[in-house]
Amino acid sequence: ETPEFLAEFQKRIDREEKIEPNDPMPSGYRKTLVRQIGQHAHSEIVGMLPEGNWITRAPTLRRKIALLAKVQDEGGHGLYLYSAAETLGVSRKQMTEELLSGKAKYSSIFNYPTPTWADMGAIGWLVDGAAIMNQIPLCRCSYGPYARAMVRVCKEESFHQRQGYEIMISLAHGSPEQKEMAQDALNRWWWPSIMMFGPHDSDSTNSDQSMAWKIKRFSNDELRQKFIDATIPQAEYLGLTVPDPDLKWNPEKNDGKGGYDFGAIDWDEFWTVVKGGGKMNVDRITARQKAWDDGEWVRDAALAHAKKQTAKKAS
Ligand code: ACO
Repeated sequence: ETPEFLAEFQKRIDREEKIEPNDPMPSGYRKTLVRQIGQHAHSEIVGMLPEGNWITRAPTLRRKIALLAKVQDEGGHGLYLYSAAETLGVSRKQMTEELLSGKAKYSSIFNYPTPTWADMGAIGWLVDGAAIMNQIPLCRCSYGPYARAMVRVCKEESFHQRQGYEIMISLAHGSPEQKEMAQDALNRWWWPSIMMFGPHDSDSTNSDQSMAWKIKRFSNDELRQKFIDATIPQAEYLGLTVPDPDLKWNPEKNDGKGGYDFGAIDWDEFWTVVKGGGKMNVDRITARQKAWDDGEWVRDAALAHAKKQTAKKAS
């Protein structure tokens, strides 16, 4: 790749032109997108597991319908994203094998357990809330297929956030036991949600290049701050307490618009979870491995059918 080619490509990015699958692109740009979109797809698919756990035990039919729809949406997002990654020359089989072998990452957040119904509320409110904050700017990502996929994904994510927050409202405004359940879920999900945005900018190895290529539009710390500022009033409305004694309104922050200062993030916990040592990492990959193995006959049958059709056409 010559410096002229790289400079020309950067000019296209700077003119806000969308890059499409058959356009020439630097190998690093392709590699970054395959990594990020693949990781994103895996997160959606693994993300079905913590909530799938509660579908059979949802407290009412209405709650069950909404949760079922949400988990199905996540499956759809995963397939949509695998397709976007496939436009870059990688196969879904390859990506799945990388997930199962531990080579490809998926979001840290899905390695936490969901022991109570209130977790369905906290996940929708906080995890999907964080996902929206991160994904709205991805609608303007320089790679066309990823940006376009994100438009629909974000619409559905906002339904997910609302269904979660509505569960939190019911619990927080319910009996003392229900309010306690809601508080307990907030206590367990707050910090992992804050960590979802990734390491501090100073430790984010990919950010500078991804920002220059306009794959990322905001840094990890910028999005984390936006999320905290948007979410604290929602916690106040619920009458719940965010588990951070250092949380404090700072009128000077955000160029004088104000924002929250917050406590130190436990990065040891984050990296332990990312490297496979979270409470649910083994369960999650075991479940995905089982689904992949159980589906083998379907893939084989589809392949055999396709071969038969091709042979029929040729004869
Ligand atoms: N969980 C697991 N790994 C993470 C996380 C996280 N929450 N955050 C960062 N990392 C990893 C990165 O993948 C990277 O590792 P790699 O180089 O081996 O891939 C490393 O930590 C350093 O981080 P960054 O350099 O900051 O990585 P990047 O620029 O890719 O930014 C981010 C991370 C913000 C998650 C970005 O990839 C992104 O926006 N992805 C798309 C959104 C997404 O995947 N969301 C998933 C959860 S939302 C949902 O599914 C409901």
